Amino acid sequence: MENRALGAGAFLLTLKLPLPEFPHPGKFLHIKPTSEGSDPLLRRAFSIFDCDPGRGTVDVLYKVFGRGSAILSRVPAGHQLDLLGPLGEGFPIPDGDRNLIMVGGGVGIPPVYLLAKYCLMHGHAAAKITFLAGFGTAAESCMSDRVGTLPIELKISTDDGSQGHRGFVTDLLRAHLSTAAATTVFACGPEPMLQAVQNLSREFKVPAFLSLESIMPCGVGTCLGCVVKKDGEEKYLRVCREGPVFSADEVEL
Ligand SMILES: Cc1cc2nc3c(=O)[nH]c(=O)nc-3n(C[C@H](O)[C@H](O)[C@H](O)COP(=O)(O)OP(=O)(O)OC[C@H]3O[C@@H](n4cnc5c(N)ncnc54)[C@H](O)[C@@H]3O)c2cc1C
Ligand code: FES
Repeated sequence: MENRALGAGAFLLTLKLPLPEFPHPGKFLHIKPTSEGSDPLLRRAFSIFDCDPGRGTVDVLYKVFGRGSAILSRVPAGHQLDLLGPLGEGFPIPDGDRNLIMVGGGVGIPPVYLLAKYCLMHGHAAAKITFLAGFGTAAESCMSDRVGTLPIELKISTDDGSQGHRGFVTDLLRAHLSTAAATTVFACGPEPMLQAVQNLSREFKVPAFLSLESIMPCGVGTCLGCVVKKDGEEKYLRVCREGPVFSADEVEL
């Protein structure tokens, strides 16, 4: 493995993880560093950001958030990690006729980037894919550098206006939904952003799929530590097993 600091607290982890095929976009890895003994006790969930089946590598883009990710950021190159995956149910693969809007908030970019790349590889017209990326400040937009290498439209928003649109990425989504026809939205980011995407999908009556980022103690469906309420029912869904991707009308955020 390699661990590279990108700036603004973000890191790119490259893992030698030979997978038989291109991982389904939206699936995640459950990772525990072993370089500092049994700390952290539990694995943490990270989306698959990118892969290179030729080199047998998988990339993870992450930001130092708390203890587990801070320890991960200190793991030296060549070290082994305790890892489970790919886990979960990823995004439904859209058909080529629809316009796709990918919405990534900060470290929510990875799964939607992988979906955009997958769609391009499988013949989806680049002109039909728009990527909206939102950050706190321009410094954090280093996380969208790889999205910028895809031949698709990329629009950036920052909360403080230091790059792109000043305001929320969902402002850009509202503007797009006002004009684009036959659109499907795919989103990952902080919960308030996903709530706003859910509201917009209802207002504009377009399908939307949301990748949720709950705390995942076990990652495999046994502890019930990650559940989300099913919309309109007294029933809960496990984000790690039934998700992390859900249709926006399926869950109550
Ligand atoms: C499907 C999915 C995909 C994700 N993809 C990404 C991604 O691509 N990039 C990214 O940056 N983030 C991603 N995340 C978020 C990432 O999982 C969290 O940022 C990460 O778990 C934070 O862990 P931490 O230890 O740094 O933070 P902390 O806040 O320290 O830990 C997070 C939570 O884990 C629990 N916890 C912490 N320590 C322990 C312990 N010792 N024992 C038991 N529980 C403990 C606590 O309840 C705590 O609130 C994803 C999350 C999910 C669910
Ligand atoms: S993390 Fe344990 S059930 Fe989902």
